[in-house]
Amino acid sequence: MAKEINSIGVLTSGGDAPGMNAAIRAVVRAGNHYGKKVHGIYEGYQGLIENQILELNARSVKGILNRGGTILKSSRSEEFKTTEGRKKAFQNLQARGIDALVVIGGNGTFTGGMYFSEEFDIPVMGLPGTIDNDLAGTDFTIGFDSACNVVVDCVDKIRDTAESHNRLFFIEVMGRDSGFIGLRAGLASGALDVVFPEETQPHEDLISELERGASNNKTNRIIIVSEGNKMGNIYEIAEMVRERYPQWESKITILGHLQRGGAPTCTDRVLASRLGVAAIEGLIDGRRGEAIGIVDNKLAYTSFAEAIRSKAKLDMELNRILKILAS
Ligand code: F6P
Repeated sequence: MAKEINSIGVLTSGGDAPGMNAAIRAVVRAGNHYGKKVHGIYEGYQGLIENQILELNARSVKGILNRGGTILKSSRSEEFKTTEGRKKAFQNLQARGIDALVVIGGNGTFTGGMYFSEEFDIPVMGLPGTIDNDLAGTDFTIGFDSACNVVVDCVDKIRDTAESHNRLFFIEVMGRDSGFIGLRAGLASGALDVVFPEETQPHEDLISELERGASNNKTNRIIIVSEGNKMGNIYEIAEMVRERYPQWESKITILGHLQRGGAPTCTDRVLASRLGVAAIEGLIDGRRGEAIGIVDNKLAYTSFAEAIRSKAKLDMELNRILKILAS
């Protein structure tokens, strides 16, 4: 029988994402609801190593549901990748009587959680928190919808000026290894084309899409470029097009960290709240070493090993639709 859990630690790690605070709030309040103590661990795994731990209660998480970023702060810890670092972290947990962890973050966060759980026989549950949406085991990650909405809002604004000057715009969005933001926000903002990392070949039809737009008398053309694509960085792509078509005036906008900020959308708040409660209930039910997601509107549990191994698949149907509509 699983050991009873009395005290739970919660941390956020990796790139912050809107909705992380909503998840922290849900973990703390659900934990208290079931009579468990909940400790906030500051600055991710690094803070665990450095013993930056504080007990939280329902009032400590008031007023954060609507706030972007993470009140617990975040980091990418190199030290936690070492056995020594993880040992220190475990000793800090033991000293405070914390017997389980909820970790909120992306792939690196789940990898850390998996090693930690196996090495020290401690239950760890993972919540998918990243704007990139590149995690297996969930349809959507916490922060993705908010980031897409930021991109759509920015592209709408850029389109106003693009249209006024008949300009071509290259807009870079985040997604080191994945085109989820690019494709979804591209479709929602009427982009002419999206260049994204999952493409196995360099994006050869960019030129034909641009020509198609020009021959259809499009007076503004928006090309979304995901940062990790295989064609090159946004400057190289824009230069290649300029060399070929010097008569087309083009501009470059890099949206960068704007995409990670701001209030979480309703969708992200609901997702984070559901997953936070599920993490606590999962731990109480004896679950461990799993990431929790929502698939087809139902809770889904995926082992950390599986969540890390398999990559979320981009829905290429969105790209097909985008191309039909970008005429
Ligand atoms: O992992 C999320 C992400 O937003 C990526 O899309 C992006 O490449 C990266 O974080 C940027 O990270 P940092 O803020 O550390 O530069």
